[in-house]
Amino acid sequence: MILVTGATGTIGSEVVRQLAARGEKVRAQSRDPAGARVPSGVETAPGHHRDRASVEAAMAGAEAAFLVGVFGPDDVEHDRGLVAAARAAGVRRIVKLSAIGTGDPRLGAGDPQSGEGEGEGEGEAKAEAEGEGAPRVGGFGTWHLYGEEAVKASGLEWTILRPSNFASNTLSWSQTIQEGTPALNMMGGGKQGVVDPRDVAEIAVAALLDPRHSGRTYTLTGPETLSAHEQAAVLGEILGRPVRLRDLSPEQRREQLLAAGLGEAYADALVIAARFIQDGGSDVVTEDVPEVLGRPARTYREWVVDHREAFGVS
Ligand SMILES: NC(=O)c1ccc[n+]([C@@H]2O[C@H](COP(=O)([O-])OP(=O)(O)OC[C@H]3O[C@@H](n4cnc5c(N)ncnc54)[C@H](OP(=O)(O)O)[C@@H]3O)[C@@H](O)[C@H]2O)c1
Repeated sequence: MILVTGATGTIGSEVVRQLAARGEKVRAQSRDPAGARVPSGVETAPGHHRDRASVEAAMAGAEAAFLVGVFGPDDVEHDRGLVAAARAAGVRRIVKLSAIGTGDPRLGAGDPQSGEGEGEGEGEAKAEAEGEGAPRVGGFGTWHLYGEEAVKASGLEWTILRPSNFASNTLSWSQTIQEGTPALNMMGGGKQGVVDPRDVAEIAVAALLDPRHSGRTYTLTGPETLSAHEQAAVLGEILGRPVRLRDLSPEQRREQLLAAGLGEAYADALVIAARFIQDGGSDVVTEDVPEVLGRPARTYREWVVDHREAFGVS
């Protein structure tokens, strides 16, 4: 049995689909198990990463677990809780979905105890810790850091996946594309190694099934780096209509995010991450996808061709 948390989401749903297609026994956790659309034969379990008891119950009898535990700066302890739940439930192998840039001081991930490396203007959010001292939570580079450390210290077989920007993030442009208005871009011309979620999921499946990936941290990118404007050009070409972007400074975007109700720590982290990307910090292509999968990483263009209907334009 393999437990997938975040099982109805971008990566989790694809992990479930691929595992089920291989005939593996899968349990998918969701806050709404009755409404979760899973392949036939897949079990569902109620709950989510913030409800430790639900995670432990979902992990009962599982040999391996896919961990999706960070949706913002308040999730650090819940992410560590997923690892503790896996240990308590006797799970043997864990695969954690992390993010590129984790641990990078330019993303606010300095020495956790001193707070060194936190970026200018960051929020002061701190998580309550269980035992090991309170982590200082700041920029994106810290959000997955404590979960990664817990994974490595767990004594279990572990693999960490640090994907770059998901190709599917551009689905957030679909409404503006349909309206013919520009989508907002806070990354300027900064390039990222846009990765296809199907490739991330395929590597997660490999790591869940094969102990040879144990002890590895994979940084997952596509085969090239693209700016948001270059992605818009590819998308526009395939959809047959212009895809326009309006550049905002990270500071302008921060004001908007705060006005929309996002917490300060979250908004500050987005500003730091946007500056990092603008400055070329994420202009990175790795060989981890081709090395693990034995084939080239999918391009953004391939992802768009396969998902063009999701943009709702004919
Ligand atoms: N997007 C990117 O470009 C990118 C890049 C690198 C790393 N990442 C990392 O990838 C992870 C997210 O993966 P994903 O995109 O596959 O997840 P997702 O689609 O955003 O969410 C996965 C599932 O988790 C549940 N969920 C969502 N928000 C929740 C919340 N606030 N509290 C409790 N449950 C929630 C939902 O399932 P139910 O409603 O069924 O419970 C959702 O379907 C994050 O840790 C992020 O840091 C993302």
